[in-house]
Amino acid sequence: MIRSVVRGFGSALPKQVVTNKELESRVETSDEWIVQRTGIKQRYLAGEGETTASLGAAAAQAALDNAGLTVADIDVIICATSTPDNTFPATAVNIQARLGMTHGFAFDVQAVCTGFVYAVTTADAYIRGGLAKRALVIGAETFSRILDWTDRTTCVLFGDGAGALVLEAQEGQGLTADRGVLSAKLRSDGSHKDKLYVDGGPSTTGTVGHLRMEGREVFKHAVGMITDVIEESFASSGLSSEQVNWLVPHQANLRIIDGAAKKLNIPMEKVVVTVDQHGNTSAASIPLALATAAGDGRIRKGDLVLLEAMGGGFTWGAVLLRW
Ligand code: UT7
Repeated sequence: MIRSVVRGFGSALPKQVVTNKELESRVETSDEWIVQRTGIKQRYLAGEGETTASLGAAAAQAALDNAGLTVADIDVIICATSTPDNTFPATAVNIQARLGMTHGFAFDVQAVCTGFVYAVTTADAYIRGGLAKRALVIGAETFSRILDWTDRTTCVLFGDGAGALVLEAQEGQGLTADRGVLSAKLRSDGSHKDKLYVDGGPSTTGTVGHLRMEGREVFKHAVGMITDVIEESFASSGLSSEQVNWLVPHQANLRIIDGAAKKLNIPMEKVVVTVDQHGNTSAASIPLALATAAGDGRIRKGDLVLLEAMGGGFTWGAVLLRW
């Protein structure tokens, strides 16, 4: 059977690093509060000329270089983002143009912080369905541009960046020992909209709007939703948490990551944590964490990697893949 196998990875961050201490001059907050409640120490913020598409294109090019491929080898680009350069065309199409690719097709996926999990699942379905042989799957965000910089309860949490994978169709045996995506589970429940949303949009206010979040409410649901969907992935694949080499969670809050790992019986030594360095980069957080841990040699060929995320919508999901 056809499997979608990771052939390359890459990432890109804005030039500007902003520490918690620096935020103390913008809003009434403290390094101590931010570290204690979230684990975040710093984040990267996009400056002039840096956009979701420019960061996404840089991450995509890095992934192509890592794979030893060029755009000529790619059939489809899928970009997960909630902070597109324009309302339309899709950021993926913008990235396609920046990469100099005029064949194939490109489109965006919008599932907020779960975006990358949705994008990998979508690419896997296209690859297994024979619609594409190789996919560039990108998570790219500039959340700094939709933050209310007077609201200390949200503006200290987020950062900007992008990460990408090249997924390639390879023949597998249909076993869990195969390389590639082994299981993908997606969920959403729109009744939770008011807990995490942007208060604007083309069809309502005609403006972009700002991110609004009831942090405590989101927190309350996060660990349960994440662990439920992971348990479902284990049940349907026949795999178990002891077999996981690396948990690569969405990086929103160290306490949520810690809580989920504990509930799943996965020791923190097997968890990739980048929230301290990047903050919450929404759909970019998982591919940024993957590029970090694959780049420094922690994630190796053959490792069982568990991706999970939960975010606005609510949306949530998990992917099990063998690197
Ligand atoms: O990626 C999408 C998913 N999003 C998430 O996963 C976020 C989930 N939520 C969270 O991570 C946490 O709820 C937060 C980090 C947002 C907040 O942590 P918390 O422990 O739930 O704090 P809280 O909202 O209960 O606030 C505690 C106190 C409040 O003061 P009072 O009312 O107790 O006097 C806040 O006003 O902390 C205050 N506070 C701050 N203080 C200093 C809120 N933001 C700040 C701040 N600096 N930046």
